[in-house]
Amino acid sequence: MEREINGERLTIPQHIAVILDGNGRWAKKRGMPRNYGHMQGAKTVEKICEDAGDLGVKYMTVYAFSTENWKRSEEEVNGIMNILRQYLISFKTHIKRDQLTVRVIGDRTKLADDINVLIDELWEMSKDNEGLVLTIALNYGSRDEITRAVRRMAADIQSGSLSPEQVDEQTVHSYLDTADLPDPDLLIRTSGEQRLSNYLLWQLAYTEFYFTDVLWPDFDRRELIRAIQYYNGRERRYGGVK
Ligand code: IPE
Ligand code: IPE
Ligand code: MG
Repeated sequence: MEREINGERLTIPQHIAVILDGNGRWAKKRGMPRNYGHMQGAKTVEKICEDAGDLGVKYMTVYAFSTENWKRSEEEVNGIMNILRQYLISFKTHIKRDQLTVRVIGDRTKLADDINVLIDELWEMSKDNEGLVLTIALNYGSRDEITRAVRRMAADIQSGSLSPEQVDEQTVHSYLDTADLPDPDLLIRTSGEQRLSNYLLWQLAYTEFYFTDVLWPDFDRRELIRAIQYYNGRERRYGGVK
């Protein structure tokens, strides 16, 4: 899809994946506790989803909590989970107006029961909405996702519902948490880090990467447009020649 933005004709990526990073440093710079940064970060997710939908993006997949983030202090983990709770609750109040669809990827078995209930309720309330599809990666790790997929595949082979000869790339895709999503066109990572930190390793095979020093709580519509402009400057070859 193409859109004219500030007088410039731009191709809008259908699916943007985001590693939202730098909440802690943003808070530290202000002499505030890390969880203050996470609170601000959650607000930014809300705003950016609005902007992305408005610009014509169809899917946003945001990395909110990794399988490795449990290593942080109990205080910080509890703080993040509480912010998430509040975020999901407030989402319920405006999900119809916003027409967003909200879903979660990752291993949900380690999440608190009430958070799992909220996730199911939100999905149920929003699954027929026609706006942006927001996927939140929660207790998500790509290696964990692939491991869980392989385990289920092996069980299906053992039970006879799948044969080894049938397994192709499409089969693997269908066992991943992201089975219903197209691969991301653009990955954005904020805060200056240039690594994947176990995010969507399979899905990002041909994605364009955009790194910015901006800390996530400061990321705004202007920055999003900058990332889309960068994306427009790339030539996607998928292994071929152009
Ligand atoms: C990203 O911000 C949010 C999560 C990983 C939950 P960080 O908390 O990693 O912020 P920095 O990297 O310490 O600044
Ligand atoms: C990646 O950020 C995970 C999320 C954004 C949820 P981290 O801050 O945890 O990643 P590292 O530790 O810098 O690689
Ligand atoms: Mg970080």
